[in-house]
Amino acid sequence: MGRVIAVTNQKGGVGKTTTTVNLAAALAVAERKTLILDLDPQGNASSALGVSKEAFAEKNLYHAIIGLVPMSQIIQPTEIDSLFVAPSNNDLTGAEIELVSSFARENKLKAALAEIRNQYDYIFIDCPPSLGLLTVNALTASDSFLVPLQCEYFALEGLSQLLNTVGLIRQNLNPALQDEGIVLTMYDGRNNLANEVVREVRTHFGSKVFETIIPRNVRLSECSSFGKPILLYDIDSKGSVAYLSLAKELIARTMSSQQRTTTSGSPEVNTN
Ligand SMILES: Nc1ncnc2c1ncn2[C@@H]1O[C@H](COP(=O)(O)OP(=O)(O)OP(=O)(O)O)[C@@H](O)[C@H]1O
Ligand SMILES: [Mg+2]
Repeated sequence: MGRVIAVTNQKGGVGKTTTTVNLAAALAVAERKTLILDLDPQGNASSALGVSKEAFAEKNLYHAIIGLVPMSQIIQPTEIDSLFVAPSNNDLTGAEIELVSSFARENKLKAALAEIRNQYDYIFIDCPPSLGLLTVNALTASDSFLVPLQCEYFALEGLSQLLNTVGLIRQNLNPALQDEGIVLTMYDGRNNLANEVVREVRTHFGSKVFETIIPRNVRLSECSSFGKPILLYDIDSKGSVAYLSLAKELIARTMSSQQRTTTSGSPEVNTN
């Protein structure tokens, strides 16, 4: 059964999309069949994978969420064989509003995913920078959530609000939602403050923080504007090496969590 991971942080510009796209690409290259759901009306993940938002104006994630088109029909291939994307565009802004009055509104994405979730090893959901209904749908549909944190002052700002939301989701909608961990992003070693943030986050969250730290690397910001994951743009760059290492860590974590599931009979539920 594929692992569905929501990449979320309501803070804008912290590296959610960059992490989703490049981590997913690294897993696909390691022969894990991987799907990205672009759940942000900005459609940045679609663009970063070279998928034109305009070309799928009639068949995108919006149409799957509101049940107009099956999820299997909106999924598009990418330049990497095992990597697929469910594209989005600004239509999703409408979904957020339309869903408000609909029945079982928090479960729409979960229901749309049911048909295909067994066909992938990993499914990443690139969340928008808010804790609105789209993010609630993502957390309800997911096995776990992954939080990118930018290595700068105020990095932890808003995190308690996110964890509160996760608590409510666990209580009301998805009791099995696991904590996949925190990824530190845009790290600049020359900056003392960045080192302080790393220390603080590690002290606070311990083994929940991935060992791999994503450096600030201009190649990572360039590659998205060329519609390519870093692996296809500059495989030797520091950014590329970091996301490959993050993928390795995630695979190891997934394997140990699956082992725990097999031995205990039920997934570990983190109640933090
Ligand atoms: N490690 C990095 N090094 C350099 N630039 C980066 C890095 N990670 C992300 N960026 C750049 O920072 C900006 C924000 O990153 P990204 O779009 O991934 O954040 P986001 O959290 O998805 O933003 P939003 O909240 O708007 O969805 C982008 O221009 C991206 O190219
Ligand atoms: Mg984004």
